[in-house]
Amino acid sequence: PRELVWIFGMLIYLALMAEGFLGYVLPWGNMSYWGAQVIISLAGAIPFDLLPFISAADAKEIGEGLTTWVRGDYLLSTATVNKFFALHVVAIPIVLLALVVLHILALHEVGSNNPDGVEIKQNKDENGVPVDGIPFHPYYTVKDLPGVIVFLMIFAVVIFFFPDGGGYLLEKPNFEPANPLKTPDHIAPVWYYGPYYAMLRATTIDFIMSSKAWGLVAMGGAIVILFVIPWLDRHPVKSIRYRGIWSKIFMTLFVLDFLMLGYFGTQPATPGKTMMAQFGTIYYFSYFLLIMPFVHKFEKSKPVPERVTGGH
Ligand code: HEM
Repeated sequence: PRELVWIFGMLIYLALMAEGFLGYVLPWGNMSYWGAQVIISLAGAIPFDLLPFISAADAKEIGEGLTTWVRGDYLLSTATVNKFFALHVVAIPIVLLALVVLHILALHEVGSNNPDGVEIKQNKDENGVPVDGIPFHPYYTVKDLPGVIVFLMIFAVVIFFFPDGGGYLLEKPNFEPANPLKTPDHIAPVWYYGPYYAMLRATTIDFIMSSKAWGLVAMGGAIVILFVIPWLDRHPVKSIRYRGIWSKIFMTLFVLDFLMLGYFGTQPATPGKTMMAQFGTIYYFSYFLLIMPFVHKFEKSKPVPERVTGGH
């Protein structure tokens, strides 16, 4: 069931990515327009012609049909914004709310984890209450409060004094109205899509499928692979606290790699940067497929306690 908690968490992440994209189209600035243009056109890059019974001409038509369907028009238009508005303001928020409920229900089944990675429901007292557990209230309500307050302080400063974040939170081209005749010099997503956009652009192979289709595979695969982490992580030690040094080194490299990809995703592409993004993409997938399932074979872990230690 803890896998289920993860899956619901990932579905929340996916719904948030959709919510962010749909919302970004709504101000209908020039980056809204061209960003939507790039992302919606990906529907036309799905290589249907790889299916044995679909010809290249039919595949093209299906791709175009799909793109028209997503736009709700032959061009990005008011119909698109109306649809995206409905999805952004009503449909996806309802989906998100439902997912959050399911996420918490699934979590309640297994109990919260702890930095020791000890299954909390394995040690219960005679009344069936976990001996290492503490009540959510007042312990966590009070612990979360400072986090919420600090977040709201930073949030308020951004909202009231620094809404564009120096062009990083609201980009300059999006202060110009949407203009189908004027492509921005450099179409880039906002920072939180950077790593995935970098992987989308990093693919230059044109073999069996178009490089755009490979880009779609890289970007989609980068998200899909996160769903199966509970099965890729085969380490017998659950908490990183007691894992060996290689787990920590490779994970640190992964974090740096993700940040690097995020940076290149927001920058104009140059041959050098594309190459760096390619290395970044290779490490991203290698980390999950080659390192995560096997790293425990190459390192010595520390002994794992039977009971929650409280960090001493
Ligand atoms: C976690 C949930 C949400 C996320 C991540 C999100 C994200 C976004 C983003 C990134 C934008 C573009 C902002 C800009 O660049 O100017 C946006 C715009 C917008 N969002 Fe959301 N949104 C969320 C929830 C909602 C909800 C619940 C509503 C309404 C009930 C809403 C209504 C709008 C509207 C009306 C705009 C257009 C604002 C404008 O034109 O300046 N959003 N949203």
